Amino acid sequence: MSLATFARNAISDYRTTAAVVPSSQHLANAMVEPLRGKSLRVVLEFGPGTGVMTRELLRVMPDDAILLAFEISPRFAAYLRETGSDERLHIVQACAETATAELDRRGIDRVDGVVSSLGVSFMDLTLVDAIFRPLLPRLSHDGVVTQFQYIHRTRMHGGRVEYFNVGQLMGRYFRSVRSSCVWLNLPPAHVITCRGARSCDRPASS
Ligand SMILES: C[S@@+](CC[C@H](N)C(=O)[O-])C[C@H]1O[C@@H](n2cnc3c(N)ncnc32)[C@H](O)[C@@H]1O
Repeated sequence: MSLATFARNAISDYRTTAAVVPSSQHLANAMVEPLRGKSLRVVLEFGPGTGVMTRELLRVMPDDAILLAFEISPRFAAYLRETGSDERLHIVQACAETATAELDRRGIDRVDGVVSSLGVSFMDLTLVDAIFRPLLPRLSHDGVVTQFQYIHRTRMHGGRVEYFNVGQLMGRYFRSVRSSCVWLNLPPAHVITCRGARSCDRPASS
């Protein structure tokens, strides 16, 4: 069912879905691993899709924590609401760019972790900047952000396929950026783990 929902979304909007099948459990484990054992109160998820990372996150989060999951696709948001029944999980059907506004609305000033599956390689860099930069002052001092990128590390730019390293991009926002490869995923993917928010004013340029 999750596979069919995912495939339907990919067919209707491939650029935003940025994948044809959900991530593997191996990739979900690797994305969530850096958050394990931390004292998590507020966690954000960007692009939960059909929830493979969401379920793993909920496994490592304490009972009193909250998970705000920002999903732009109405189909995925509806799927998650139908299939998820955990009161810690709040599905926000909106662009990840609205995360700080949502935090303000809920009176939350600190975030302990962010797990992002956004297809950064498909996104305009001004949007990536608008998503990540406002979060930097909200991250707790030992906060961690994970993001993945498929192994080929390419993007379409100006009608051409070019090399594009999301880890390097994340270096604009974080002092420590580490990558590790998860082979058991279709396609294999780099998990990029970011710590130490920079307080830089330099905007990303494409
Ligand atoms: C590569 S899929 C990952 C889905 C799921 N996390 C997984 O790993 O199987 C990217 C997800 O990001 C969502 N998405 C894309 N752009 C978004 C945005 N600006 N804000 C929130 N979600 C977005 C897509 O709808 C899709 O669910």
